[in-house]
Amino acid sequence: MSIIRIEKLVKNYENNGLLVPAVRGVDLSIERGEFSAIAGPSGSGKTTLLNLIGGLDRPSEGKVFVGESDLTALTPKELSDLRLRKIGFVFQAYNLIPVLTAMENVEYVLLLQGVDKNERANRSAAMLREVGLEKEMDRLPREMSGGQQQRVAVARAIVSEPDIVLADEPTANLDQKTGESLIDLMHRLNHEKKITFLFSTHDPMVMHRAERLVHIIDGHIDSDERKGSGRAPAKKKAPGKGKKGATKSSQGKARR
Ligand SMILES: Nc1ncnc2c1ncn2[C@@H]1O[C@H](COP(=O)(O)OP(=O)(O)O)[C@@H](O)[C@H]1O
Ligand SMILES: [Mg+2]
Repeated sequence: MSIIRIEKLVKNYENNGLLVPAVRGVDLSIERGEFSAIAGPSGSGKTTLLNLIGGLDRPSEGKVFVGESDLTALTPKELSDLRLRKIGFVFQAYNLIPVLTAMENVEYVLLLQGVDKNERANRSAAMLREVGLEKEMDRLPREMSGGQQQRVAVARAIVSEPDIVLADEPTANLDQKTGESLIDLMHRLNHEKKITFLFSTHDPMVMHRAERLVHIIDGHIDSDERKGSGRAPAKKKAPGKGKKGATKSSQGKARR
């Protein structure tokens, strides 16, 4: 069973009385353990799509399943519980709480989950060590580099041991080398902890490193390719371009 399943997803925003279609009928399935990226130019709908998958926003039409849960059928309380247990989110601009240290930022998720104090401290410290920040635990976000802050954001996203990490342009504010080491880190977590990663990006390095690349243009899927890790991507159009995007049968199975 797919860990994420999207059916006929549509999201329209309203802007000064005008309808802005951001996602225009997307079908997509992500399998457990995948290391995938949604790539597309600015304004193509990447953030909107990730927010819908992560339950941070509600679709105008269509369905989003995470595991067996239909997000569109959940109450706000059920949705936030599911988010807390199953989904880690890494934002483009890190979104750390400025008055909390690295450690406190990571612990905060566990606090929301009701984990007791000792376990919170142990798990958060272990997570920060895992992302190479053992020396920075007591620093405030403003006392860390962009790369370090993004590592804290990754630690925060995975400390609750979610099934899925959604990362919205995680390397956008990082230099090439720092971005690459962040992807190395996430790739290792993908392998070791079997966490499913779904990025949005327009960074060629991230597109290259992703094991599956879904191109989105103007709110619909333009192509969907699975590739061996590390291999240079070869662009190929998926069937059904423009309308349905990738369905189960068009996810490039033959291209493995
Ligand atoms: N809150 C919003 N209100 C109105 N329009 C929005 C809002 N968020 C995004 N949009 C519009 O939806 C489209 C997709 O945006 P977005 O998902 O942010 O794209 P991307 O992340 O690929 O840059 C764009 O046309 C954008 O202007
Ligand atoms: Mg965006």
